[in-house]
Amino acid sequence: MTTLEIRDLHVDVAQSDADAEPIHILKGVDLTVSSGETHAIMGPNGSGKSTLSYAIAGHPKYVVTQGSITLDGEDVLEMTVDERARAGLFLAMQYPVEVPGVSMSNFLRTAATAVRGEAPKLRHWVKETKEAMTELDIDPSFAERSVNEGFSGGEKKRHEILQLGLLKPGIAILDETDSGLDVDALRVVSEGVNRYKERENGGVLLITHYTRILRYIHPDHVHVFVNGRIVESGGPELADELEENGYERFTAGVRA
Ligand SMILES: Nc1ncnc2c1ncn2[C@@H]1O[C@H](COP(=O)(O)OP(=O)(O)OP(=O)(O)O)[C@@H](O)[C@H]1O
Ligand SMILES: [Mg+2]
Repeated sequence: MTTLEIRDLHVDVAQSDADAEPIHILKGVDLTVSSGETHAIMGPNGSGKSTLSYAIAGHPKYVVTQGSITLDGEDVLEMTVDERARAGLFLAMQYPVEVPGVSMSNFLRTAATAVRGEAPKLRHWVKETKEAMTELDIDPSFAERSVNEGFSGGEKKRHEILQLGLLKPGIAILDETDSGLDVDALRVVSEGVNRYKERENGGVLLITHYTRILRYIHPDHVHVFVNGRIVESGGPELADELEENGYERFTAGVRA
């Protein structure tokens, strides 16, 4: 049983011009995600959803100025990025990074070794990755390609879920893993997330703009994210309401 607890989280982002004032993006986020739960976060562009995921993962540009993040009571903000991964946090990024010169198979084995604390036995590992790739309909030739280099948008997203299946984190943050997927890929990726939920009893924080993925991955809680904070939480019906009416009733009077 794992619990990620976020309390009154305020985050600034450093601007590329080092002399410029940092921008205040998250303005008091409270959220608790436990094993076996799926939380969906929906909100307008630029409201700070990816900032939240970066702050949890430990991106150096996103500076926590107030509040706390804990994982089973341990202070996540005190941990380095790789300590966070070892502690059981996983982030599938909205825009997965290309790593030329590092093969997918090398990358996955190195990541699995780091997270598990020992190198997976080679024969077992080959079988494990093969099965995981088959489940996600990924051609075996991808194993020898450089990480994400030249991958289509949908192929990148599929590989994020491949990592999820192999790294088996306690809590997974999926930032728009559904965006850019065709209907078949959406189903395959959703099934991958659901397998992870079942096999690992994982907790999922799913950031999305569309209710279509929520027809496959059923959220227990839906949160509306506007202007750096959660402004309303509810059950799955809240997602349908948002799809129908947009964010107007939440954004009136605030700059999203
Ligand atoms: N590194 C950065 N430098 C400058 N501004 C940034 C940086 N990162 C985020 N921001 C700004 O912070 C705000 C929140 O961005 P964020 O990416 O968190 O939004 P989002 O809710 O994920 O939006 P989307 O739905 O479009 O993905 C935006 O106005 C964005 O321009
Ligand atoms: Mg985003």
